[in-house]
Amino acid sequence: MVQAGGKRFRPQLLLAVVKAYQPLLLEGAKQVAYGVELLHTYSLIHDDLPAMDNADLRRGHPTLHTTYNEATAILVGDGLNTHAFYLIATAPFSSEIRVELIKTLGENGGLEGMVLGQAIDVEFEGKKLDLKQLKFLHTHKTGKLIAASLKMGAIIVNRFQLGEELYRFGLELGLLFQIQDDLLDLEESKTTGKTTGLDWNKNTFVTLLGVAGAYREAEGLADRLEEWLSRLDKPVQKELKKVIGKYLRRHRREGRDKKVNKREQREEG
Ligand code: IPE
Ligand code: IPE
Ligand code: MG
Ligand code: MG
Ligand code: MG
Repeated sequence: MVQAGGKRFRPQLLLAVVKAYQPLLLEGAKQVAYGVELLHTYSLIHDDLPAMDNADLRRGHPTLHTTYNEATAILVGDGLNTHAFYLIATAPFSSEIRVELIKTLGENGGLEGMVLGQAIDVEFEGKKLDLKQLKFLHTHKTGKLIAASLKMGAIIVNRFQLGEELYRFGLELGLLFQIQDDLLDLEESKTTGKTTGLDWNKNTFVTLLGVAGAYREAEGLADRLEEWLSRLDKPVQKELKKVIGKYLRRHRREGRDKKVNKREQREEG
């Protein structure tokens, strides 16, 4: 599942921050970035399980529980989760830096972060949340790991204050990323490489605000992030632009505007 690919968005964010300030640390940082990607991949494997989203396609391949069985998928997920922390604990950085990295990933990937978001997502299937609660859900299930990736890059280069700002930036970037993902659930599986059409009973920006509403929310966030990006310290701005640039308007897909207008008319009607 790791080798199957994926966008590698989170490790790229982490490495972009390192590259901006201390390119010589990139080799060591790759081990940490790999750890983040392993934890993320575990979250996808478990997310696809029958007890959660029950998806049979991921990253263009059948999910592990379809190819093998559920026990295998659960155990591979468990293994990737723990191995992530092993990799970071053995990365070539000082013990203080390593503890900060482990703390950040543990806090944001676990009970206070991604796992909490996933728990709310599953618990409130079929029960409607309000917009504020939905933002809380998305910020936890997706935003926190994205924010942590940026912050971990800053920890590696010893810039803790920058790490705090990038963390706040990352929470909003993660929210945008998940709204776009909600819109992608309307696309065909062959475009996304994963099972789609699974969100109809879930709390998403599309189910709460409609396609047009989700699209507008994404546009607003993308504008805000673009402006924020232009105010960041120059070196990190330059590197982050390379990674984030193509994702900021990911929701603007060919023909989407027309579809949005049509749906908007229907929804209003
Ligand atoms: C999918 O993450 C799940 C979300 C948190 C939105 P990605 O869209 O980053 O999936 P991959 O890693 O590219 O497969
Ligand atoms: C999952 O959100 C977020 C995770 C923490 C894995 P989704 O359930 O929307 O992700 P996809 O659409 O299956 O990739
Ligand atoms: Mg899910
Ligand atoms: Mg899912
Ligand atoms: Mg989704």
